[in-house]
Amino acid sequence: MRHRVEKLENPLVLAIETSCDETSVAVVRGREVLANEIASQIPIHRLFGGVVPEIASRKHLEAVDGVVNAALETAGIGLGDLDGIAVTYGPGLVGALLTGVTAAKALAFALDTPLVGVHHIEGHIAANYVQDPELIPPFLCLVVSGGHTHLVKVLDYGVYELMGRTRDDAAGEAFDKVARVLGLPYPGGPSVEQAARAGNAKAFSFPRAFRGEDHLDFSFSGVKTAVINEVNRLHQKDNPLPVADLAASFQETVVDTLVRNTLRAVDRSRMKRVALAGGVAANGALRARMKAALSAKGVQLTVPAPILCTDNGAMIGCAGAYKLKAGNIAGLDLNAVPSLELVTQY
Ligand SMILES: Nc1ncnc2c1ncn2[C@@H]1O[C@H](COP(=O)(O)OP(=O)(O)OP(=O)(O)O)[C@@H](O)[C@H]1O
Ligand SMILES: [Mg+2]
Repeated sequence: MRHRVEKLENPLVLAIETSCDETSVAVVRGREVLANEIASQIPIHRLFGGVVPEIASRKHLEAVDGVVNAALETAGIGLGDLDGIAVTYGPGLVGALLTGVTAAKALAFALDTPLVGVHHIEGHIAANYVQDPELIPPFLCLVVSGGHTHLVKVLDYGVYELMGRTRDDAAGEAFDKVARVLGLPYPGGPSVEQAARAGNAKAFSFPRAFRGEDHLDFSFSGVKTAVINEVNRLHQKDNPLPVADLAASFQETVVDTLVRNTLRAVDRSRMKRVALAGGVAANGALRARMKAALSAKGVQLTVPAPILCTDNGAMIGCAGAYKLKAGNIAGLDLNAVPSLELVTQY
C-alpha cells in the first residue's frame, strides 16, 4: 500500500456503518468513543413491517454527509486530524453497504489517509472492547443479531473460530417474524420483549431444536413456525390472541436455547469469559439469564450497553482501529460484499 502505517497506539478513526437501516458515523480513539451519531431509519421501515432495501440505500445516501459532519462536530476534531477511515463492507444489504463504502473511499482518497474495511460481525464483537476497556482475548462471544447467530471463540484481535451457528433463521430474525404475526411493530425484538413482560413464559410449550445432539448449532425456524401455527389455530377458533403469553413463551424458548448452547461452548472451550453481541443482546431476559447461568460456573460476562448492541459506528471504529494498528489497509478498490463470511481477518 501507498500509506506508511506508523505504530499508532490508539489511532483516531472515523467509522461509517450503513449495512442495514442505521446510518451511523463514529469517531473513536482506539476503544474510546468521541462521537457515535446514529440516524435510524426505523420509523420509515416500520410502515412496511420490515426493512425495504431500496429505501434503505436512498436514505443512507441522503443522511451520510450530515451524519459525518455531526460526528466530527461532536468529537471536536477536523478531518485532517484523522489517522484512518473505517467502513463496514459486509455482510449486509448491497445498496446500503455501497453507500457507506463509497463515502469512506471518497474521504480516504481526498484526505490521503488509510482506508480500513470492517466485517460487520467483527464490529458487533468489538462493541465489547468499547464497553469494557480491560477486556482482552481470548473469550467466547455469542453473536445474536438480525441476520446472525454465531458462537465464536475470539482467540485474539481479528482471530476467530466458529463453534456454532444457526442453520436457518437468526435469533433476531425470529423475533422480528414472530412480532409480525402477533401484530407487534417493527423491530420485533423490543416489541416482543415489552409484550412478554406481562405474559406467562410457561403458557405455551414450543419446540427446542437439536436437543440431545452433540454440535453447537442453532435452529429457530421450528419455534417460529410453532408460534405461527398456534396463532392460526387460535384465529380459526375465533379466540382472542394471548399476545403477552405467546411473546413470553417464545422469548423463553429462544433465551433458553441461547443460554444452553453457550454453557456447552464454555465447557468445551474452557473459556473463563463470555461476551454478548448484536441487537438481541439488548434483551433483558437474555442478559439476566446468561449472567445467572455463567456466574454459577464462575465465568465472567461482558454485555455492551443496549446502544452498542444494535448497529452503530463506534463498534466499527474500534474494530477498524485494531485492523489499522495491524496494518490491514484496504485499497480504493474495496467493494461491498453482501454475504461476507467471518473468517480470521489478520
Ligand atoms: N430487546 C431486544 N430483544 C430481542 N431482540 C432485539 C432487541 N432489540 C433488538 N433486537 C433485535 O436485534 C436485531 C437488530 O440487531 P442488529 O442491528 O445487530 O441486526 P442487523 O444489523 O439487522 O443484522 P446483522 O448484524 O446480523 O447484519 C433485530 O432483529 C431486532 O429485533
Ligand atoms: Mg448488525
